[in-house]
Amino acid sequence: MSRGLFISLEGPDGCGKTTQAQALLRELRLQGKTVLFTREPGGTALGEVIRDILLSYRHANMCSRAEMLLYAASRAQHVEEVILPHLRDGTFVICDRFIDSSLVYQGLGLGLPLTDVYGVNLVAVQGCLPDLTVTFRVSVASACARLRAKQAETASGPDRIEARGIPYLTKVVAGYGQLAAMFPERIVEIDAERDPASVTRDIIEKIHTLERSVKA
Ligand code: TYD
Repeated sequence: MSRGLFISLEGPDGCGKTTQAQALLRELRLQGKTVLFTREPGGTALGEVIRDILLSYRHANMCSRAEMLLYAASRAQHVEEVILPHLRDGTFVICDRFIDSSLVYQGLGLGLPLTDVYGVNLVAVQGCLPDLTVTFRVSVASACARLRAKQAETASGPDRIEARGIPYLTKVVAGYGQLAAMFPERIVEIDAERDPASVTRDIIEKIHTLERSVKA
């Protein structure tokens, strides 16, 4: 049996990733694919505990390196316990956020050296990198508007990362552009300011292109 394809979805908070992930999942299952959808931080029992630590305000004084290592620890468990076994079984794995979130949020966003963040994460993922990363490109203004709408809808406040506000979000939005230029063979950027159905169609097309290149 051939290894399953591994796709990660990336973008700043408020980029519309969650809505697109659901549409994508529906479409791929309609096409008869066995798909696992998972997310970071989280995806395992240990990862969900780490997620809670990372997003809550209980540890407001968490230093940047501890934050980077906690995301990497959640990822290490996720890869070992969930992602690698499913890929070996031939399952299509879609992960909501992966290594690029750390490169952008902790590297370019918090100013940790990218080589450190990449190095730590390469250890965490055992060389298991996505075959394709779809990054949702939005403006800072759209991301802010969507975030506010989500918070109003769920009657929730910002989590510890979202509470860093517009200056940090601006670095994250720019950071995703920088990263796409660094890894052009793996990362594709999708204009997520358009109507949701066109965005989904574009992603499906990128996945089909990947499938054709793997078969060739
Ligand atoms: P979540 O509510 O899942 O955000 P979203 O729905 O936008 O994916 O919260 C995850 C937060 O953690 C989000 O602000 C991005 C951040 N994050 C990092 O800073 N580094 C990472 O490596 C990962 C995976 C996420």
